[in-house]
Amino acid sequence: MNLDFSQIVPYIPFILEGIWVTLQFVIISIIFGFILGTALALCKISKMKALNWFGDAYTSIFRGTPLILQLMIIYFAIPQLTGYDISPFLSAILAFGLNSSAYVSEIIRAGIQAVDKGQTEAAQALGVPYRLMMKDIILPQALKNILPALMNEFITLTKESAIVSTIGYLDLMRRAQVVGADIYRNFEPLIFVGVIYWLLVMVLTIIGKVVERRLKFSD
Ligand code: ARG
Repeated sequence: MNLDFSQIVPYIPFILEGIWVTLQFVIISIIFGFILGTALALCKISKMKALNWFGDAYTSIFRGTPLILQLMIIYFAIPQLTGYDISPFLSAILAFGLNSSAYVSEIIRAGIQAVDKGQTEAAQALGVPYRLMMKDIILPQALKNILPALMNEFITLTKESAIVSTIGYLDLMRRAQVVGADIYRNFEPLIFVGVIYWLLVMVLTIIGKVVERRLKFSD
């Protein structure tokens, strides 16, 4: 066995900095994806055919092609088309947010449709406008049921973030590769960031459990 973790010790601060670099765009992408996903879900359940079509086409494209391809198109191909360079950070947010919204929209659509129809009927009978009905009655109930599925999506996004290393963004994954190339050993830095990713996902899992318990409590 040829293991020597002592060699990565000088690089630990460099690797740890990657946590924030990674989290920064993951958090922004999650929020962006969630907002856009909600809007898309509303398109999908709308009575207007054009909106249904748009929502379905959107999901079909962004769920039907690899995320790494979408990332590379945004980072390498769009500048070719427009003449404007785009930073790895912005590319990452766009690619992850747009991709995630396709998945989130399906989760939210399922959640909305699972809310008992009587809720809608009662709201309509009371003359509650559509916007308020969605915001105050349907969406809060839907959200409670879909929380586990949403947490799944956020966890996927956190781990999938590692592919930004392919466009030179200095995230956790890229840092492990840089350190590996520097000390001619790859196992130790990779295991080290592996543990960090696992811890990040554990934190997300715990947050999800806490929120779930809170929402149950309010029942
Ligand atoms: N590796 C998959 C892909 O390339 C994951 C996509 C991201 N998944 C997600 N739930 N947002 O398509």
